[in-house]
Amino acid sequence: MQEVVLRCSNITKTYRDGAAETPVLKGVTLEVRQGEQLAIVGSSGSGKSTLLHILGTLDTPCGGEVWLGEEELFSLDAARQAQVRNLELGFIYQFHHLLPEFSALENVAMPALIAGTRRKQAMEKAQELLEKVGLGHRGKHAPSELSGGERQRVAIARALINQPRVVLADEPTGNLDAVSGEAVYQLIRDLASQLGIAFVVVTHDNQLAARMDRRVRMHDGLIVPDEASA
Ligand SMILES: Nc1ncnc2c1ncn2[C@@H]1O[C@H](COP(=O)(O)OP(=O)(O)O)[C@@H](O)[C@H]1O
Ligand SMILES: [Mg+2]
Repeated sequence: MQEVVLRCSNITKTYRDGAAETPVLKGVTLEVRQGEQLAIVGSSGSGKSTLLHILGTLDTPCGGEVWLGEEELFSLDAARQAQVRNLELGFIYQFHHLLPEFSALENVAMPALIAGTRRKQAMEKAQELLEKVGLGHRGKHAPSELSGGERQRVAIARALINQPRVVLADEPTGNLDAVSGEAVYQLIRDLASQLGIAFVVVTHDNQLAARMDRRVRMHDGLIVPDEASA
């Protein structure tokens, strides 16, 4: 079995708004192995996005730990945390979040440029990845000139450019038609097995989730047994 790359234990999160408290995560423990494709399913409001954001240090938990390899992410100083976010984690959002004023190629290259990679090298790597996601010929196009499915493929290439250990995706096909959604999942599966990168994908589409290696279900802030994956 592959080694565990990402692990969280007993994660809790409560939002406070004045006197009102909303417990959103009630003690979530989860392990993700190298190259694994893990789907997190569950109804809207069950805490999937909150958990994913905490796994990616985009939000902080009230309690619990998140380990990426040998490092506990919320014990790191801000500089190292930002570096881990840039180098070891990749993110894919429901709405691609591509920068509209940059080309597809530049968008893919951006995390590498931020990491200090030389421009020429970053562009070559970005081109290679665009080819991997089937968009080698579209690098010069602006995001607005691409279809929804193509934009998500650019976002996938961008998430991969620094060769992260784990890619976190929040409803990456939530905005796509069934055929494009299917293609995005196929691509994620191929890339996970080719590159050995783990993908954690939040979705409420059970059919797409069924294509992943493993599924966990969230309900009311907890991971519960998933009958559908038995
Ligand atoms: N910033 C926030 N402040 C208060 N409540 C929030 C905040 N973000 C999320 N919530 C609440 O937390 C719960 C879980 O949200 P979320 O993690 O987005 O669920 P999911 O992604 O499964 O739909 C919801 O009830 C939501 O209203
Ligand atoms: Mg969500």
